Parts: sequence; structure tokens; C-alpha cells
Amino acid sequence: MDRASPKRRVAILISGRGSNMTALIKAAMAEDYPAEISVVMSNRADAGGLEMARASGIPAVTIESKPFGKDRAAFEAVLQASLDEHRIELICLGGFMRLLTAEFVQRWYGRMLNIHPSLLPSFPGLDPHGQALSAGVKISGATVHFVTPQTDAGPVLMQGAVAVRDDDTTDTLAERILAVEHRIYPEALRLLAGGKVRLDGNVCRLEVGGVSSEPFISPAPIERR
Ligand code: GAR
Repeated sequence: MDRASPKRRVAILISGRGSNMTALIKAAMAEDYPAEISVVMSNRADAGGLEMARASGIPAVTIESKPFGKDRAAFEAVLQASLDEHRIELICLGGFMRLLTAEFVQRWYGRMLNIHPSLLPSFPGLDPHGQALSAGVKISGATVHFVTPQTDAGPVLMQGAVAVRDDDTTDTLAERILAVEHRIYPEALRLLAGGKVRLDGNVCRLEVGGVSSEPFISPAPIERR
């Protein structure tokens, strides 16, 4: 990153343990990382990630969504005020389990990322690991994408793949995919914050190289075993 250019101010929105949040916080500690995690916001006071954020010296804000019930717009008005207060430029959703209104999503379009533990557009929504196992796919993974009003949809910024094993359970598959999530989310944010991607309709294009050249085949061909 150009030393003179300021780091983009990022908010991470969580609802739970925040392991992706932790991966982003760690990555952003590097001097040449183009973003800084300016605030962590949770819609639940009991989210485990809040403590970790505070321990890292990052402001951690709770805006309980429950009292707002179905009034999503009222919750988002408070959320937006807090984002404004922290002068946030980019949002990363990290296991944020509250549906957002189309209006809020459109306001942040192109500046808000989400991570989902499947190779989207396959297996959006709940229990993506169980969906992958039931479908019998041999490769699954994780996707970082721009957020659109539809759940777990939107231009794909980065994906990482793992082989699905015959003896996988949802837990073992989730564990391997989570390790991939922790690698791709910081890389995806690096690209976005560094101005290295652009949206071309529903397709996210990379301004730099970096296409993987090796095919990933699962199960491995017999001669390679
Ligand atoms: C992650 O696996 C993330 O991909 C998933 O929630 C988990 C949050 O874990 N998100 C979704 O399923 C979004 N539809 P974390 O709190 O440890 O980052």
C-alpha cells in the first residue's frame, strides 16, 4: 500500500463467536494492510467475539436487535448512526445473523462483504454443511461476496475450496471450511480496501492477477494416490 494513502475504516458486524472477526483483526494489524478495523458491532450482548475485540483494543458496540422485533428499519437507523459516528467506509459481516432491509443493503452496495461456508451459489441459507453432505458434492468451501438484498447472494469476490470426505460430518466439514474462511476473508478485504476489485454488473473482477492455475480434483485421481 502507498504509505500516504489512509487505511479504509472497517466495521465488522457479528452475532456470535467471531472467529472470522478475529482473523480480520489479526490481518489488519500488519502495517501494509489497506484497512483498519475501527469498530466491532454485535446485535447480541452475549456474542463471544465482543470480548476478543475489546481485548484487541477495538471499540466493541452492542446494539441489541431483539427489542426492535420486526422493525428492521428502526434497528438499522441506530446501526447506521453508529456506523456514521465511527466514520465507517466498509462493512464486513462475520456470522451476523440478522436479516438486513433492501434499503440498508442498497445504501452499502459495493462496500459490504459477507462470508458464507459454501461455494455459492450452492447451498445458501441455513445448514450449508449439511446441504453439501446431503447433495454428495465432492468439493465444498467458502465464499466472500458483496451483499445484495437476497440472502447469501451477490457478486463473488473470493472462494476457497476443500475436498468433502466420505466420512465427513457437518462438524468436521465445518471445521475444515472455517480454516479456509479465515484465510480468504482477510485476502478479500485486502483486495477491496486496496481498490483492486471492481463490480461489472453481478460479476466482481480483479484488477490484479492471481488466478490459481492448478485444477483441484476430488477425489484425487487414482494415479496420484
Ligand atoms: C461462519 O462459518 C460464517 O461463514 C457463517 O457463520 C459462521 C460465523 O462464525 N455465516 C453464514 O452462515 C452466513 N450465512 P464466526 O462467528 O466464528 O466467524
